[in-house]
Amino acid sequence: MSSRGTTILSVEGLSKSYGGVQAVRNVSFSLASGEILALIGPNGAGKTTCFNLLNGQIRPDTGTVRLNGQDTTGLRPRILWRMGVGRTFQITATFTSMTVRENVQVALLSHHRDLTTFHRFAGRAHRARADELLALVGMEDAAERPCGELAYGDLKRLELAVALANNPKLLLMDEPTAGMAPRERVELMRLTAQIARERNIGVLFTEHDMDVVFEHADRVMVLNRGEVIAEGTPVEVRNDARVKATYLGEGLVYDARHRQEAMP
Ligand SMILES: Nc1ncnc2c1ncn2[C@@H]1O[C@H](COP(=O)(O)OP(=O)(O)O)[C@@H](O)[C@H]1O
Ligand SMILES: [Mg+2]
Repeated sequence: MSSRGTTILSVEGLSKSYGGVQAVRNVSFSLASGEILALIGPNGAGKTTCFNLLNGQIRPDTGTVRLNGQDTTGLRPRILWRMGVGRTFQITATFTSMTVRENVQVALLSHHRDLTTFHRFAGRAHRARADELLALVGMEDAAERPCGELAYGDLKRLELAVALANNPKLLLMDEPTAGMAPRERVELMRLTAQIARERNIGVLFTEHDMDVVFEHADRVMVLNRGEVIAEGTPVEVRNDARVKATYLGEGLVYDARHRQEAMP
């Protein structure tokens, strides 16, 4: 708790082009521990590219990324994950033939770097800790079920438990609620925000449902054509003239089509 409010992520002048397309231009921002920052913007604004620059999937053309003051620009996802950068995926990544608990156990084994022992100790490794994490996301009753038969909303909660197994300092969530029903969407973000604040985890997330954004984000950053056009509290951003112009006539609820596309 003592570190609440210290800067964990600091981004300066981040840019990335694909051929003639400047997907991300000169993006700068910082994120404090325990803070929930929403990254919003129309389709093609550069949100996913931003995430991929932060999680190490791609390297920036220019700019720097600092994690807890340490320059991590261009480091690979695996290294960043070791440094406490967790993420959830737009398409849920779980082992479908394993049970819910086993998926969390694998994540815990990986966190403790003893994956080589997994096959020998599969059943009991980190079992209590796995069950704690499942209880945290409300999945304790589903521990023995194979992942392949879970409903989509449950899979997303499992995915959150898996991300938490790494004890992240920073959680990157690119459309964590894509494909979920509206009520489930609100619940997943409420749960995420509550856990993040309790555990002092900084969260950067994208979300198409503006109700979810304005209810759960401490701060909102708006991207348009790769550039940050506004940044502030939900109220400030909602009333920003440039933001209003970007979403003209859409009442800040946009891109419902994309939600359909994201259905698994
Ligand atoms: N791998 C890629 N190759 C070429 N263009 C890309 C690639 N990834 C993204 N882009 C382009 O960069 C822009 C930003 O895309 P993206 O970051 O996916 O936006 P968002 O997530 O906000 O919808 C778009 O114009 C997209 O077509
Ligand atoms: Mg995207």
